[in-house]
Amino acid sequence: MAASAQSPPATTRCRVCGGSVERFLDLGRQPLSDVFRSPQDDTEEFFYRLHVGQCGSCSMVQLMEEVPRERMFHADYPYFSSGSSVMREHFAGTARGFLETELTGDDPLIVEIGSNDGVMLSTVRDAGVRHVGFEPSGSVAAVARGAGIRVREEFFEATTAEALRLEEGPADVIFAANTFCHIPYIDSVLKGVDALLGPDGVFVFEDPYFGDIVSRTSFDQIYDEHFFLFSATSVRAMVARHGLELVDVRRLPVHGGEVRYTIARAGARPVSDAVTALIAEEEERGLHSPETLRAFAGSVASVRNGLIALLERIVAEGGTVDAYGATAKSATVVNYAGLGPGLIRRVYDSTPAKQGMLTPGAHIPVVPPAALREDPPGHLLLFAWNHAEEIMEKERWFREQGGRWVLYVPEPHTV
Ligand code: SAM
Ligand code: TMP
Ligand code: ZN
Repeated sequence: MAASAQSPPATTRCRVCGGSVERFLDLGRQPLSDVFRSPQDDTEEFFYRLHVGQCGSCSMVQLMEEVPRERMFHADYPYFSSGSSVMREHFAGTARGFLETELTGDDPLIVEIGSNDGVMLSTVRDAGVRHVGFEPSGSVAAVARGAGIRVREEFFEATTAEALRLEEGPADVIFAANTFCHIPYIDSVLKGVDALLGPDGVFVFEDPYFGDIVSRTSFDQIYDEHFFLFSATSVRAMVARHGLELVDVRRLPVHGGEVRYTIARAGARPVSDAVTALIAEEEERGLHSPETLRAFAGSVASVRNGLIALLERIVAEGGTVDAYGATAKSATVVNYAGLGPGLIRRVYDSTPAKQGMLTPGAHIPVVPPAALREDPPGHLLLFAWNHAEEIMEKERWFREQGGRWVLYVPEPHTV
């Protein structure tokens, strides 16, 4: 167990600028969000302290304890991006967008950081365009490689990016989805971007938006892998330190609210009105003010208390509760709220690597979705609330036969 799980420091040093990071939220002792345990495993489970602070100098919101990257991203990493049809379509559209706008020159190159099972690069492969994916997790890298995608099974950072530049020349696009916010060693990555990006290339990344996390009290977006919670304000300041500029932003509906940030070399491209507008909006709503952060922490505690009360009431009245989607996010909710197999019988999940295993920390059994029809509960707690439409459509019969879904974003309720 990490030592700081016992006595967390109130301040740490900012991973972006070295300033002082002050805690505003403590979600307690937490297991690794994507390490599922075999029921036979009796080894000691790893825990760390999940507490969050904001840098007083550059405003970056970040975790205050870092989990070593090899503990999270390895040969047994169980998150396969292609598990959602909505996300498959989202990334096919993303790739088509690049192919039509940025990848039209002579033998263009696109590099993806965190290419996972190839959900985005498969469209680029189909178009016959030169590409490379960096993907350190062997489990998912193997799937992409098997599908004919060029994958380097390594972490993207300064050294690996420089090596690629020597082999392949400059990149027209560097893309990262739900990965850049996973990387505490941001200096090394941005040095790598600087080494690899062509003079008029773009570095595009999309991650959960801190503005949406606060508006929706979606505190389950905070877990070991989500080291940074980005805003336009903090991203602009971060990239400026590396001679780069935030030139465009776009709100995305996926994963409960994200922003796609487009970065170019300083002065290379005009800055869009959307950047100015989003930064003004963040300023106006006081997104980074101490009052907002305090109010957010208060809302987090009341959502937790409300969810516990709702689930306990259902069970006290003789009802049963199962959950749907053994998401990394759910580790935060379950372990922060102290939920366990006493309240939640089991979790349905379509990922073969998670089935037959126990969830991190709380040890709730994970079973295939087919088991739902055999013995349906009265209530299903939707851990994968970001895929609500897709999952509720797939399991429409559950509500039709009288079942009810429980959601906790933006507050606990049943539908
Ligand atoms: N891009 C996919 C998506 O949006 O669904 C995958 C996202 S997954 C949550 C994060 C991925 O980033 C994992 O597959 C992990 O192995 C990978 N990753 C973590 N650190 C990385 C790094 N430094 N370079 C490249 N990939 C990394
Ligand atoms: P995510 O919210 O991090 O994308 O994780 C979604 C989890 O939910 C992942 O373990 C796969 C699972 N899932 C299902 O079981 N059925 C589904 O239809 C979808 C979309 C996801
Ligand atoms: Zn800072």
